[in-house]
Amino acid sequence: MLEPAAPQLEPAFDAANQRVHVITHGCQMNVYDTHRILQVLGAAGWVETSDPTLADLVLVNSCSVRDRPEKKIIGTLSRMLPLKEAHPGLRFGVCGCVAQQHGESLLKKVPYIDIVFGPDRIADLPEIIAENRTGRRVAMTELDDPSDHAFLPVDPTVETGPSAFLTIMKGCDRFCSYCIVPYVRGRQVSKPAAVVVAEVESLVRVGVREVTLLGQNVNAYGKDRAGEPSFADLLARVAAVVGLYRVRFVTSHPADADDAMLDMFGSLPSLAKGLHLPVQSGSDSVLFRMRRGYDVARYMDRLARVRRACPGIALSSDIIVGYPGETPEDFEATMSLVQAAHFDSLFSFKYSPRPGTAAAKVKDDVPETEKAARLARVQSLQDSISARRMNGYLGSEEVVLVEGPSRFARVGGRGKLRTEVQGRTSTNVMVNFGIDRVAAEARGRLVRVRIDEVLSHSLRGTVISWEAD
Ligand code: 5AD
Ligand code: SF4
Repeated sequence: MLEPAAPQLEPAFDAANQRVHVITHGCQMNVYDTHRILQVLGAAGWVETSDPTLADLVLVNSCSVRDRPEKKIIGTLSRMLPLKEAHPGLRFGVCGCVAQQHGESLLKKVPYIDIVFGPDRIADLPEIIAENRTGRRVAMTELDDPSDHAFLPVDPTVETGPSAFLTIMKGCDRFCSYCIVPYVRGRQVSKPAAVVVAEVESLVRVGVREVTLLGQNVNAYGKDRAGEPSFADLLARVAAVVGLYRVRFVTSHPADADDAMLDMFGSLPSLAKGLHLPVQSGSDSVLFRMRRGYDVARYMDRLARVRRACPGIALSSDIIVGYPGETPEDFEATMSLVQAAHFDSLFSFKYSPRPGTAAAKVKDDVPETEKAARLARVQSLQDSISARRMNGYLGSEEVVLVEGPSRFARVGGRGKLRTEVQGRTSTNVMVNFGIDRVAAEARGRLVRVRIDEVLSHSLRGTVISWEAD
């Protein structure tokens, strides 16, 4: 049994050298927000720690898109409760989409959560913490008015590798029937193109060589703001930044994926050869009820167009199985689409109702066991397709952007130290290979590699030549 802690007077709060530990769930948008949180706290004197036992604040950056998000947060924080007993100054916070959705009610429900704040309130975090230190539990979840949302500027000094994320828009105006994003992230707001380009340039100056442009529906970029270029034009401007080797982007919506954008894959050499284009279902009737705004024929036409523009492009997608009213025939149509599309990878999920969405008003009528069986079938079909796609790399030459050392360093012949590094192909597949120089020299360089071995999710290869800087 723990002795009851002696009553302590809390010293006046000083942010200098306070330590924060952040646990990030969900998509790249949340990873990006975690960086911004660390940036805002860093400016106030905080430092990040990867060890929760040393932290003064543990934050869970939550995701509410699927599964049981609240349970996950409560599980994570309740496992950390003993840390609060050991360190009475420790505070727990929840941010991200679940925080936005539940706000103050999270404080009511979970007594050991101290602060709750939404994605639009990251800049207010120092004040939220200061208020909490006066003894109040604080929930702050107002969404910005789209007309005056201010994006937090990128801080290039926090970048540590050659790849960086860059948000180009927030929110979503699509309102797909099953999706909670428009409710928790708000309406679409695009970042001005001039700011995007200037931020990419600032990242390149600190050694970033690859940027991934982020948004819930990047193809609709600019549509909310008069005078901004289309997404295709923005891509061309970003790709023209000198010193940037690769541009990627997520996520695309098939209904907004226009010809101009798809054709860019054939005309912009620095546009990486990969497109994530979520289809969600292979049944026209399900797509209609999901309010997706396209049918299977249109989707397949998008795939064909981008493959014509860029043969060998890696395509990936998302599928939801067990949407309300999905019949066995609807599901077979999804299986046929997956077979025909030949995706490199696929993320598939069982439908789960999200509170407040249109789909949540209709009965979630596909039994859980049936959802699980459909998920297993689509995943096993995709596994065999993915394996075939991966085998296609054997013997090929790939240009790899070196990210850094692999987990294992190897000693080569005659005692000579060889460094094992890893990086990604243009199609976003991880490759491990040995080099004769230290990893720091290779980081951020492009290297031509011959692929000698295919593993289930990565490749191994041998250096052929280093590309010129
Ligand atoms: N149930 C299941 N999957 C969902 N997704 C979004 N909302 C739901 C939901 N309610 C999936 C979609 C989307 C991906 C990010 O998450 O496939 O593309
Ligand atoms: Fe959700 Fe649809 Fe917007 Fe994607 S496009 S974030 S699925 S509402």
